[in-house]
Amino acid sequence: MGLAVEMRAGRVLLVLLAASVVMPAKDPLLNVCMDAKHHKTKPGPEGMLHGQCAPWKDNACCTANTSSEAHRDQSYLYNFNWNHCGVMPPKCKRHFIQDTCLYECSPNLGPWIDQADSSWRRERILHVPLCKEDCEEWWEDCKDYVTCKENWHKGWNWATGTNRCPWGSMCRPFTQVFPSPKDLCEKIWSNSYKYTTERRGSGRCIQMWFDPAQGNPNVVVAKYYAWKKRSSPARMEDMAPETGGAACAVPWLILLLALVLLAAGWGSYGWGSL
Ligand SMILES: *[C@@H]1O[C@H](CO)[C@@H](O)[C@H](O)[C@H]1NC(C)=O
Repeated sequence: MGLAVEMRAGRVLLVLLAASVVMPAKDPLLNVCMDAKHHKTKPGPEGMLHGQCAPWKDNACCTANTSSEAHRDQSYLYNFNWNHCGVMPPKCKRHFIQDTCLYECSPNLGPWIDQADSSWRRERILHVPLCKEDCEEWWEDCKDYVTCKENWHKGWNWATGTNRCPWGSMCRPFTQVFPSPKDLCEKIWSNSYKYTTERRGSGRCIQMWFDPAQGNPNVVVAKYYAWKKRSSPARMEDMAPETGGAACAVPWLILLLALVLLAAGWGSYGWGSL
């Protein structure tokens, strides 16, 4: 190897070394958008997000159009009819709007993205640990509404282009269809959410509702669960946090290799030649 080539290799290594110190490796579970019907390919700022979706405007997977549509009955997003058993009261509907905003806009659901076996989206979310308050308030505010189905993803009569109660199903009080908050949050969207006893602000559960003045609390939650998932991909549910650690090994190995190669390069030509 000639001196010039060696020197160039040395500079490349130096740049790599600097980069690996300054920039943490990009984690594919963090700051991502799922591959579904209306999501952007990458998250980014969206200054014009509408109404209840506005908390995500600094970094979102939804467009302004999607955020507006999330507030409409029978929106073009899913043609979904909230009023399938009479008019859904506004205090209940606002939770469904917020649920839509989280689903469409959040860039922090990466650890729970899963393959979807459906024609209209490639990916879905599964077992997102929802904060206790978000789930309980949702249930509390919808208690007085009625519905004919437990799983709102599947089994509707779509003959008219919008969802109607299937033949033979009856409109029943929410509390009969969903006896507890856990039933509501887990069953309504085929286990997209998991009920937890973690509180808002704990850093251990995803918040549907948050005050953006303090930043998006779900960023650290995604980070925590991404790390937990890496340390135990198969059984994220019941792993203790103490069992992690292996995830950091690879960047350190590269760093060490770069250092050794650099030292070797410097050693053969002297410090001045770089
Ligand atoms: C959003 O875009 C769709 C499709 O282009 C359009 O039909 C709809 O009117 C738009 N909605 C809003 C609120 O701008």
